[in-house]
Amino acid sequence: MTRNILFTGASGYLGGSFLQLLKDAGLPGHKIYAVVRSDKQAEAVQQYNAEPLTIDLSNTDAITSAIVDNNVTVVFHLHNPLDSTTPAWIKALAAVKQRLRQDVHFIFTTGAKLFSSHAGAPSEPFSDSDPGLYVMHKGQAAKAPIDAMGVGTSCNTLVTETAEAHGVKSYIFVPCIVYGRGLGFGNKISIQTVAVVRAAKATGRVFKVDNGRPTWPVCHVEDNSTLYLEMLRGILEERDIGHGKNGYFLASPGSVAWDDIYTAMAKALKKRGVIGDEEIQMADRDDLAKMGEGLDCPADFVPLMLGGLCPLTPEHGRSIGWTPKYGPEHILEAADAEVELILEHLDGARSYAIPQGTKLKQ
Ligand SMILES: NC(=O)c1ccc[n+]([C@@H]2O[C@H](COP(=O)([O-])OP(=O)(O)OC[C@H]3O[C@@H](n4cnc5c(N)ncnc54)[C@H](OP(=O)(O)O)[C@@H]3O)[C@@H](O)[C@H]2O)c1
Repeated sequence: MTRNILFTGASGYLGGSFLQLLKDAGLPGHKIYAVVRSDKQAEAVQQYNAEPLTIDLSNTDAITSAIVDNNVTVVFHLHNPLDSTTPAWIKALAAVKQRLRQDVHFIFTTGAKLFSSHAGAPSEPFSDSDPGLYVMHKGQAAKAPIDAMGVGTSCNTLVTETAEAHGVKSYIFVPCIVYGRGLGFGNKISIQTVAVVRAAKATGRVFKVDNGRPTWPVCHVEDNSTLYLEMLRGILEERDIGHGKNGYFLASPGSVAWDDIYTAMAKALKKRGVIGDEEIQMADRDDLAKMGEGLDCPADFVPLMLGGLCPLTPEHGRSIGWTPKYGPEHILEAADAEVELILEHLDGARSYAIPQGTKLKQ
């Protein structure tokens, strides 16, 4: 049976890296459709044997047609964790399921911030395989200290609940601090590590933004891609890899302390003359305001960009056969190369932009 797979985010850091590895993975019968936004991207995706589809992702009729008309049975959604159009994607998949009498799958890419202190998550470690995770995550929406994070957790729950209601298998894929050179044709750098460099450039120093030593999961971009691959392998082989309320996957070999990331990156930034002093200091209100200028966000949002505690732990990926190549500490060894890569691509680098004047809570 050949499965038709629809991708978004092919020109992005994560989506492009996944497509590159998929090309040589030798997975059984499938055809790829990739959503693109330009002729250049349309040409580029063909090197991955993908058929380009130019559709407006704010138009739910266009999304429905793309899925239904092409008999798509697997969607990899990699372009917006705050997407509220996901019910349209899921219902379109359900229509294909009814027509073809095949299982259909929706893989939604979210982010570790939505399982962190910024989004009302508990401070004690909890696993992506915990059977109570769905209930806990759903409950975060009302507790999130930042409105946008509450919206994000609700978007994840909307996917899980809509998919369950329509007989679609859904998966919440959780990338964390991803690092390493992107493998695809488009964006080569992470939207995460770049924040440390931008803030340091704005202030001339690397500042910490939290008390204590909060930790955050990390992952090399190649390992992030091989988890997507393992999930797809399981789907194509019709194995039950865990879905719906048991469908959370944290793409990470483990966590490191932000302080250690700051120290390693500060050393690399000092070596290149970007900052004058590699000692890490605690940011005060003025420092946060300056960091915010570098990050295109209000001072209150700076800790969201490069700090906080994410106690989510990864078990699910390994349980389906995923073996990350790099341990968590590798990000510290790779910090020098990461800084070099970021500086090389800093012009036009992507990151989360939050307009000045935005409040944490309305
Ligand atoms: N990188 C990380 O460390 C990380 C960590 C946690 C979560 N995430 C999440 O994972 C997802 C992928 O991240 P990434 O690093 O690959 O981001 P990225 O490099 O910025 O790529 C985003 C991709 O989405 C596409 N896109 C965005 N809006 C679109 C729209 N309206 N219509 C069509 N395509 C659209 C972009 O197309 P164009 O090239 O045409 O703009 C690009 O292909 C994002 O949702 C991100 O928030 C990433």
